[in-house]
Amino acid sequence: MRIKEIYLDNGATTKVDTKVMEAMLPYFTEKYGNASSSHSFGQDAKDAIEKARRVIAKSISANDDEIYFTSGGTESNNNALKGVAFAFKSEPKSEKTNRNHIITTKIEHKCILETCKWLETQGFTVTYLDVDKEGFVNPDDIKKAITPKTILVSVIHGNNEIGTLQGLTAIGKVCREKGVYFHTDACQSYTKTEIDVNKQNLDLVTLNAHKIHGPKGIGALYVRKGTKIIPWQHGGGHERGLRSGTENVTGIVGFAEAVKLAGKKHIEHMAKLRNKLIDGVLKNIEDVRINGPSENNYKNHYGEDKRLCNNANFSFKAIEGEALGGYLDQKWICSSTGSACNARTLEPSYVLKAIGLTDEEANGSLRLTLSRFTTEEEIDYVLKVLPGIVKKLRWISPIGKVVNYILKKQ
Ligand SMILES: Cc1ncc(COP(=O)(O)O)c(C=O)c1O
Repeated sequence: MRIKEIYLDNGATTKVDTKVMEAMLPYFTEKYGNASSSHSFGQDAKDAIEKARRVIAKSISANDDEIYFTSGGTESNNNALKGVAFAFKSEPKSEKTNRNHIITTKIEHKCILETCKWLETQGFTVTYLDVDKEGFVNPDDIKKAITPKTILVSVIHGNNEIGTLQGLTAIGKVCREKGVYFHTDACQSYTKTEIDVNKQNLDLVTLNAHKIHGPKGIGALYVRKGTKIIPWQHGGGHERGLRSGTENVTGIVGFAEAVKLAGKKHIEHMAKLRNKLIDGVLKNIEDVRINGPSENNYKNHYGEDKRLCNNANFSFKAIEGEALGGYLDQKWICSSTGSACNARTLEPSYVLKAIGLTDEEANGSLRLTLSRFTTEEEIDYVLKVLPGIVKKLRWISPIGKVVNYILKKQ
């Protein structure tokens, strides 16, 4: 008999909250107008979009007209980088506009790294900064990397694999002082910690809905008023000319509902269970390390959280993470190794390599990501079954046999 699954892959995606679904339903069958139509059906859809825009703007202390809806995180990241880069390229050259340099880090999501790679083929230069062993980029390194040619700094807020939350305030200060734009990809961190575009000096922010119990295929890009950016998708001039295409009204309504439902109590719930999970694994299993920030609850100088409240990423010695994930799946526990977008490759995760792990350590990694629906019983169950699975895998793996042999000899 199939028991209820324990879904600990919320960093990949989350289940749509039933309240989100209920809010969306009328916009499929009753209020299905095109927001560009002037009749009342169209205007109902338009009103719904504008109400949703207000909710999302308020959640990051932005103005309503600084929020642009897109199809998700990938599109927002592409639009932010390409839109700003080409805004500079297409202007008549002057000392101010003759800039072609972008700064990012080695631990960005693929959609930033691939966009940067492509921009390099279009005459832009990109600096990929190192991070420390917990995954933090040093704001001083950003300061040193900025040149008179720099347009934009793009740094992921919450890392999708290791849960490191970058210190946005410190990075924002550097960018503001130096007069360069600051973009952050906040897909993993949105509603899980504070984002305030003014306190943190953010010029562009990428958001999406499917990591926060909203639907897939909807996201937003915050663009500070006055930021030089050109549209990347042309057409009927929707979203004030920045993103053409008939608006995904159902998705937008669902996105805003998901934001409304998110709350501080959920952050506290996830953080408590994450701590229990991390502490339990480290206490009950030998030869395991936590990847990302080493302490669960710590905050930086500006009071910002340093670890995502729902992320735990471990490396187990002498074990293949893939095998571990397979055994957990047999117990109906959904986990992941590396990020979902990377999980199909057998390459060790570039994020884990960037924080200094060996190939073997990176291949022994397991990511467990919680949601507000995760229960204490589920974490207890994981803590009960995981040590036995690790022991068994260590026993049957060839490297495990050698390690066991060495351990026994000592
Ligand atoms: C940090 C980060 N950025 C961007 C994305 C891509 O977002 P989407 O799936 O909405 O395109 C994801 C999702 O995997 C992510 O975790």
